[in-house]
Amino acid sequence: DRSCWRCAFVAFALLWIRVSSEADQVCFPKNFMFGVATAAYQIEGAWNVSGKGESMWDRYTHEHPDRVFDHSTGDVAADSYHQYKTDVALLSELNVAFYRFSISWTRILPTGLSNEINEDGIRYYKELIAELHRHGIEPLVTMYHWDLPQALQDLGGWTNPITADYFVDYAKVLLDNFSDTVRFWITFNEPFTFCHDGYGGNDAPGGRSSGFEDYMCAHTVLRAHGMTYRMFEKEYKRRFKSFMGITLDLDWIEPATTSTEDQIAAETARQFIFGWFAHPIFSAQGDYPPVMRTRVDANSLRHHYSRSRLPHFTAEEITAIRGSSDFLGLNHYTTYLARKIGSTGTVPLYDEDVGAAFSQREDWPKSNSTWLKVVPWGLRKTLNWVKNTYKNPPVLITENGISLEPGLNDMRRINYIDGYLRALHSAITKDNCHVFAYTYWSLIDNFEWMRGYSERFGLYEVDYTSPERTRTARRSAAYFGKVASTRCLPD
Ligand code: NOJ
Repeated sequence: DRSCWRCAFVAFALLWIRVSSEADQVCFPKNFMFGVATAAYQIEGAWNVSGKGESMWDRYTHEHPDRVFDHSTGDVAADSYHQYKTDVALLSELNVAFYRFSISWTRILPTGLSNEINEDGIRYYKELIAELHRHGIEPLVTMYHWDLPQALQDLGGWTNPITADYFVDYAKVLLDNFSDTVRFWITFNEPFTFCHDGYGGNDAPGGRSSGFEDYMCAHTVLRAHGMTYRMFEKEYKRRFKSFMGITLDLDWIEPATTSTEDQIAAETARQFIFGWFAHPIFSAQGDYPPVMRTRVDANSLRHHYSRSRLPHFTAEEITAIRGSSDFLGLNHYTTYLARKIGSTGTVPLYDEDVGAAFSQREDWPKSNSTWLKVVPWGLRKTLNWVKNTYKNPPVLITENGISLEPGLNDMRRINYIDGYLRALHSAITKDNCHVFAYTYWSLIDNFEWMRGYSERFGLYEVDYTSPERTRTARRSAAYFGKVASTRCLPD
């Protein structure tokens, strides 16, 4: 009868709504992994505890408190050295597949020069890793997240070629001690940032802004990375079934106008920022991007240097560095607009080499960091550019995140993650970009380098006034936990 028809119709409609909304739901592939990241100096504190030596960031924040925005240091930070069990409990609450953290070089080798190992440092990371495994969380270890031993910095740091050899010694100590429990290794985090801002500028400890040091730093880092990977490949990789990569930063660079000049300037800038490190490792040819070679050679000549400021690799080095990564770690936060600039003589030499100036649109949603505007489509473009430029390498997004004001109700963080994950999903499912994991930066609030504690990226808020640095979940923690558990974005 009529009422039964009505029931059938309602049942059918409900079923239809369910099926169609499932089809619309944004879900990531079955083996896709979600994780969160931190770095040693930004969270550990305990800067001189249990035999740890002095790093360049310890020295810098102690010697120049005025240079850090809120005059703070990482001496205590979030006290993760003592609170690591709490951190792992948070990771477990989030249901993440992996935790990306970094090892403090001077906790393991206090001067970076002597071969005497600080066993307390080894013990600390062994305990952290064991605690992660107890909770079914995979450790992803960054060997170098900017805290160079001060003793090496005294010798010129990354501008001195011997730093590469000492890095290899350090990497060997890590591989010997942790290979049975760590399967994913990252040699360096964002060499562009620490070479360009530190050795090429004054936004971090490093060198002088002379137009030489940034290139020298990058050269040593690339050699160190290549040597480390070859050692890993020979002695550890097969035995421990592990993987090693490098983390590079590429925020999207869009031409400011449709003019050919600006299009070229944008592509040149991508090569100078990302290609600088990616071309030697991920391109079929190896070595620096040809456009860097041409431009730095020409600009050096123009300034009457008898040699190019961009160093040369030997043929053996080119071979060792080419193909020296099992995956590409990608940090991505925002988008910039590039326009062409001429050789004005008023900008730093490196900027002249690049030939581009950067800006952002006023109407892009803001964060608490001046440089970070919310532009999710930039991630999709970045991933497509990586795919097309380097033959679609396996990509692990090692960082993506937003800083906001303190507070637990962080809807804007949820919107940021949601927007970027949708862009990522399109890149994977529509454009076939080969991305196998996503990492949110950061698990907890932490020391944001020159900005001190004034910029907060955490899914968990840290109370810096409490001695134990109490962590409290923000709304985004529940959101991200749901994403990590279901691999789908909530409606
Ligand atoms: C990249 C760096 O790896 C990390 O240390 C920093 O805190 C975030 N970006 C946010 O700026």
